[in-house]
Amino acid sequence: MSTIDYNERIPNNVNLSENKTLQRALERWQPAYLDWWKEMGPDESSQLEVYLRTAISVDPKGWAHFDYVKMPDYRWGIFLTPVDADRKVNFGAHKGEDAWQEVPGEYRSTLRRIIVTQGDTEPASVEQQQHLGLTCPSLYDLRNLFQVNVEEGRHLWAMVYLLHAYFGRDGREEAEALLERRSGDADNPRILGAFNERTPDWLSFFMFTFLTDRDGKYQLAALAESGFDPLARTCRFMLTEEAHHLFVGESGISRVIQRTCEAMKANRVEEPEKLRALGVIDLPTIQRYLNFHYSVTLDLYGSEVSSNAANFYTQGLKGRFEETKVGDDHQLTNAEYEVLDLVGDKLVPKHVPALTALNERLRDDYIRDVEAGIGRWNRIVEKAGIAFRFKLPHKAFNRHIGTFAGAHIGPDGQVLSEADWTHHHREWLATEADREFVGSLMGRVAEPGKFANWIAPPARGINNQPQDFEYVRFH
Ligand SMILES: [Fe+2]
Ligand SMILES: [Fe+2]
Repeated sequence: MSTIDYNERIPNNVNLSENKTLQRALERWQPAYLDWWKEMGPDESSQLEVYLRTAISVDPKGWAHFDYVKMPDYRWGIFLTPVDADRKVNFGAHKGEDAWQEVPGEYRSTLRRIIVTQGDTEPASVEQQQHLGLTCPSLYDLRNLFQVNVEEGRHLWAMVYLLHAYFGRDGREEAEALLERRSGDADNPRILGAFNERTPDWLSFFMFTFLTDRDGKYQLAALAESGFDPLARTCRFMLTEEAHHLFVGESGISRVIQRTCEAMKANRVEEPEKLRALGVIDLPTIQRYLNFHYSVTLDLYGSEVSSNAANFYTQGLKGRFEETKVGDDHQLTNAEYEVLDLVGDKLVPKHVPALTALNERLRDDYIRDVEAGIGRWNRIVEKAGIAFRFKLPHKAFNRHIGTFAGAHIGPDGQVLSEADWTHHHREWLATEADREFVGSLMGRVAEPGKFANWIAPPARGINNQPQDFEYVRFH
């Protein structure tokens, strides 16, 4: 069951060959996908041989197989974790019913929208990262970028499979539209804001994978609880791949911090200008990048109080993070949850029905996870004996969706006048000058074992390969 058939045009573990109509529909979508990859996938990459991880089975041990692959030949396919015949709907009004193997008619359009919104983020991030390969700081990093890119492509396949298999003609049309929208396009943009931002340099890329892929983790985790079983099983397998993306981000920033701290100590300098002259990224610039990517990503969770979120939950479509481990009634009948409100010039906690606050709850789960990562970065700085500490801005800072949209809130949660914001925001958010400086450091390093000056080598190689391993072959 869990073995993937690679003899087929579309590798899968869902017995695709037994459903000819579906197989033909997906085989028609496949060339359109490859055209999209050629147009929007990584620049100048089609001839490169990349040391990639490919799933050969969904067993815990068997799914990570490493080999050189040209990316257009990557075996994008459809992989779901195995069926659990006893699985139930674990929350909401349908709690206790058998998990649904077909889409409940009354939730059809809602579910389709949820799947399309998730699916849209996957090709969007590939588009955002399209040019980064040309300025990679090492072959190791180039390989990691490409690994993330091919897996985001596979995540698109995962969602398109659901659309084709369960949503008929509407689903097929949505699958086509997923290849038509473009990140940042004025006329036909991607659905969510953060996925229309640019990712012009590697510091942005690492922030994106640390912060925005982590939003992906939380969204997928909530959908992995879904009563619609094919969605749950799809998301469970995606989560195993997603972990690597978060690793790329967290370890990437760690290595940048490491390198900067080394330069600070070796040269006994702290001033950003002097560090920049040494070709490393000063810590306050990293903090401003963090502030930007963090606040933009917090918006992805949606409004603090949301009747949509309540409906998704009550209908059994989208659960909470680790739903089945939460010790309550899983219906939230009388439960409350604390959200922040903006009253005059104060942020005031208020209690609202927990059902309506599920976006905020997921955002809070996410924030705790990010905090832990920031703590690990600070240990690097601390170990170097440097006084600087990274700090997450207040969750109301620089928000454009929900309660704080339109307000001006500083990184410590202070409510500001528009004039104050205008006067200070450049201290808090990455500026054009910051981006220009970081951009000036970007230049391709593609010799095995060599690393750009602004980033430390990783502690260990991918699949335990040595430091000078040729992760990408250019011939
Ligand atoms: Fe993804
Ligand atoms: Fe990802």
